[in-house]
Amino acid sequence: MEIVAIMGSHRNGHNTQKALDFFLKQIDADYELHLYNVNKIKIEPCKACDYCVEHQGECIIKDDAMPDVYKRIETCDLLIIASPIYFSAFPSKIKALIDRTQMLYNLKDRSIIKKKKLVVIGVGGAPHYPRQFQAMENTLEWYKKYLNCEEIGFVKFSHTDEVSVLENKNGLESLQKIGEKVNEIVADNEN
Ligand SMILES: Cc1cc2nc3c(=O)[nH]c(=O)nc-3n(C[C@H](O)[C@H](O)[C@H](O)COP(=O)(O)O)c2cc1C
Repeated sequence: MEIVAIMGSHRNGHNTQKALDFFLKQIDADYELHLYNVNKIKIEPCKACDYCVEHQGECIIKDDAMPDVYKRIETCDLLIIASPIYFSAFPSKIKALIDRTQMLYNLKDRSIIKKKKLVVIGVGGAPHYPRQFQAMENTLEWYKKYLNCEEIGFVKFSHTDEVSVLENKNGLESLQKIGEKVNEIVADNEN
């Protein structure tokens, strides 16, 4: 199984990365992991130049991490998006990555994009408030459609500025359950 995991926090080793690492540990099946930590890769913002409309499957920016990200997103079986919210929305670095997938959105034939499962981990520092993760959901609504994703779980960790994700029993249990689901799906596919 090929997994693409995107770590969208601007801080390495904090709640987002901890939750992502915890989730990956729940997966028993063999997997090949392509981990994109937004702090360790270069991603230019989308230029909105429409080059990818005329040049199907190509982005005008070729010297950053995105050519590799496109390839992996196209063929992976499981996509994991782990991100904090800044002002209730995706932070700028991961948002740049999301915007750059406009190249895939603009494909006239998207049949090369394999059907995949999607797991989302949202992290918010404040105690839970209405619509805390709404902007993430709105963004991913489109993402799911054009990247051929079936969402199998969205775990939301609130209050992380006071309570570490590793102290949030409900959140960890949810991640465990989704991990079990992934293991079942892999086992079913093997039989
Ligand atoms: C610029 C900025 C804006 C933030 N805005 C929000 C917010 O709107 N709502 C919220 O719940 N937490 C907000 N936070 C808190 C982060 O979501 C929280 O610290 C989270 O744990 C960060 O992820 P990390 O622990 O992986 O770094 C904000 C943090 C920063 C740096």
